[in-house]
Amino acid sequence: METIIATVDKNMDNEKKYKQAVDILKSGEVVAFPTETVYGLGAIATDEQAVQKIFAAKGRPSDNPLIVHIGRQEEVSNYATGITPEAEKLMAAYWPGPLTLVLPKIPGVIAENVTPGVDTVGLRMPDHPVALELLRTLREPLAAPSANRSGKPSPTEASHVYEDLKGLIPLILDGGKTGVGVESTVIDMTTTPPAILRPGGVTKEMIETLIGPVQVENKVSDEKAPRAPGMKYAHYAPEAPLYLIGNESDQIAVAIESLHEEGKKVALIGPDELDIPKVDWFFAIGSEADHEAMAANLYRALRQCDETDADIILAVETDLAGVGAAVMNRLTKAADGKWYKD
Ligand code: TXA
Ligand code: MG
Repeated sequence: METIIATVDKNMDNEKKYKQAVDILKSGEVVAFPTETVYGLGAIATDEQAVQKIFAAKGRPSDNPLIVHIGRQEEVSNYATGITPEAEKLMAAYWPGPLTLVLPKIPGVIAENVTPGVDTVGLRMPDHPVALELLRTLREPLAAPSANRSGKPSPTEASHVYEDLKGLIPLILDGGKTGVGVESTVIDMTTTPPAILRPGGVTKEMIETLIGPVQVENKVSDEKAPRAPGMKYAHYAPEAPLYLIGNESDQIAVAIESLHEEGKKVALIGPDELDIPKVDWFFAIGSEADHEAMAANLYRALRQCDETDADIILAVETDLAGVGAAVMNRLTKAADGKWYKD
């Protein structure tokens, strides 16, 4: 299969490109598209066979629920019930935006393989002009996980999607680099109090200001596979082992020195402010104080580590305020929870 990349830009006539994407989706195929978080690989969420093609292209097992994307808030009631006043407040404040609400599903509407084994559905309205125009032209909901091959970091640029999925999908809509850079916050609205299942761009602080205290699931893996807990699929892990490390420059410099003595080449991911002259590769992802920048640049840095021949990757911890929680969550998963100790 040839994979076409169609650039969608506000200075261009894009009508034909959206029409092509809609035609492909309506024919039961998948299309990759930008959202404000990461690129998604979409299929019409009511079409079981189309959704199956997402799993085939990603090489991902199909035991995990997928997020359903909608173009208008009113559509929520087509797919979910039990929309509490708290859910209404969150939608009013943060949609469109990087927030997925898990709500009781209306049975028989969304395809079974989108929500396998659960009686809920995760819904979100993405805040990206291309995603919204696509959804509104299509007039159907899109099931869309991140558009990467299973085992790779989520794509934040169309070129990442192409690297992973060329020859496997017909079309990528290229809307440039994504803004938030990590997947949406997922909040389960069916528990009391609601529970954050995955931290993201809409922070715990932002949610609690609006609806009061929430629970946080603090597992390393957010990938709840409710039907078969033993079947959680592996998260992105870089080719070289990745370890978390504290943010003290001296400590980092000592660690690198001792790794060099063992003959190991080191890649470092951390804030712009770090000045570690002897490291073999340094991927600066943003200022220490700017968690948003760190989230936006994190996945590209992880991909860049895989292009080096580093023997070990050290990733500097961030504090957990605001979007820092999402950055640490993704780094902790990539490290499989390991901290560097010399
Ligand atoms: O930012 C994002 O959310 C991206 C972009 C493309 O929109 N999409 C994304 O989708 O990350 P996906 O399908 O990979 O997210 C799946 C995760 C599950 O692993 C689970 O954590 C949560 O979302 N989820 C989805 N539906 C759920 C449900 N019904 N119950 C519990 N968790 C659910
Ligand atoms: Mg993903």
